[in-house]
Amino acid sequence: ETEGDGLGCLESLIVVSNRQPYRHEYEDGEGDEGSIVVDEPAGGLTAGLDPVVREANGTWIAWGDGDADFAVTDDDGCVAVPPDEESYTLHRIELSEEAVDSYYYGFSNQVLWPLCHEFPDLIDDGDAWANDFEWYRTVNERFADAVAEHATAESVVWIQDYHFGLAPRLIRRQIPEAATIAHFWHIPWPTPETFAECPADEELLVGLLGNDLLGFHVDRYARLFMECVEQYLDGAVVDHDRWLVDYDGGTTRLATAAMGVDADTYDETAREVEGTDALLERFGVSPEVTLGLGVDRLDYSKGIPERLAALERFFERNPDRRGEFTFLQKATPSRTGIPAYERLGELVRSEVTRINSRFGTDDWQPIVYTEEYVSREHLCGLYRRADAMVISPLLDGMNLVAQEFVASSVDEDGVLVLSEHTGAHERLGADAVTIDPTDTDAFAAALETALEMPASERRRRMRNMREDVFGADLEAWMDSQFAAIGRLHCSSGSDDDE
Ligand code: ADP
Ligand code: F6P
Repeated sequence: ETEGDGLGCLESLIVVSNRQPYRHEYEDGEGDEGSIVVDEPAGGLTAGLDPVVREANGTWIAWGDGDADFAVTDDDGCVAVPPDEESYTLHRIELSEEAVDSYYYGFSNQVLWPLCHEFPDLIDDGDAWANDFEWYRTVNERFADAVAEHATAESVVWIQDYHFGLAPRLIRRQIPEAATIAHFWHIPWPTPETFAECPADEELLVGLLGNDLLGFHVDRYARLFMECVEQYLDGAVVDHDRWLVDYDGGTTRLATAAMGVDADTYDETAREVEGTDALLERFGVSPEVTLGLGVDRLDYSKGIPERLAALERFFERNPDRRGEFTFLQKATPSRTGIPAYERLGELVRSEVTRINSRFGTDDWQPIVYTEEYVSREHLCGLYRRADAMVISPLLDGMNLVAQEFVASSVDEDGVLVLSEHTGAHERLGADAVTIDPTDTDAFAAALETALEMPASERRRRMRNMREDVFGADLEAWMDSQFAAIGRLHCSSGSDDDE
């Protein structure tokens, strides 16, 4: 609710994100002669923010990459959305292949992503990063220019994620002082030791300190950010108690808000599902089995090989579970073309094949692995049906899948096996079965604990987790962000009739 606690004074909202809320495409096989169709918001953040931007009649600036995206925009890259009820401006930024290679696949996903997820060995520190960083800066400048085209003294600019580390300062230089710039960093922030590996450390910190407000999922990331500023940026003054950083005449306030999911929709969708037997059979899973479930982007931060190792150990230790328990791993290829992602895909597929040939029989496979598209309805059905949901990242800013599982567990009988290295663990850790994904024996034992847990205990834990997930859902997260933004913006003098 933009009119709620937060942005009573909101007159102009500008959202900036890498992924766009709507994508235009030519209908199947019709090429650029065909009629154009529009995809619904892709889920999660985009779907959650869409109604807010609609209500505010705001502007959303994002990378346009659909086949037909620029066939429907005006000369400035703008199109009114949603198509059936035009309420706000989607301003698409067109990026050349070289820009995408360097800004998205390069600096964003081969420097910042491994850096923030504590995989220093995967940071591209060869010759490529300097060129990638040039492009990252160029793309941040283009987004900042687009913001400046729309911004007024009353504007609130809300930037999403690590693709725009430099944009806040670039925007700050171009728009009226009274406008407010806020940013949410959806991934972890690294330790100072790891941050030392960042080839553009100072410029990134200076960029982010162009924000009035910088949000993280959990306190730890905000604290690490302050430590990095203190250690790597001369001239910055950090107030650790009040979570303020003064730099170059401006002040950045840090805040934490653990992101939630649209719990009611997951709950309702899961209730409407009419069984999953046919779906399971399509994957070759007998509907009778005890079901373990994994749902991830194919990303090295998600701990999928560690999960497979624990499953192998589990089947070694529990021969009676062979034929009786199946683990369904749904994976979506992501950022393909980046060598670390290609290697991960190959490793995961070959490990599944190896483990299946070790334990599998003619009519049963221990692990069923699929990269097939599964609709949101079917996904909710699988969450509801799963006896154990296994989430094992080595590091994850939040992990929304954990919350989606809980919101969909309407029968209150599933168990969440959850890595202690996720933001979600700070919320659900007390009632999940906690794992350290790198400790294979303990991980296998945790799977045993989950599958042997008495029904009353499963229900008790699931009820607690559901209370958390429904109480702190996506709307609550947005309200808290807007309340924090509103406290700064409405008192900044740009609008004092709140
Ligand atoms: P990340 O943002 O790193 O991908 P999250 O768990 O926070 O991880 O969010 C992932 C989102 O993508 C969730 O909404 C989830 O439902 C969806 N998703 C992830 N993997 C799959 C998959 N294999 N199939 C369908 N949806 C998926
Ligand atoms: O949560 C981190 C994040 O990078 C989101 O910003 C993004 O939408 C999601 O993971 C999927 O990644 P990508 O946009 O690179 O496909």
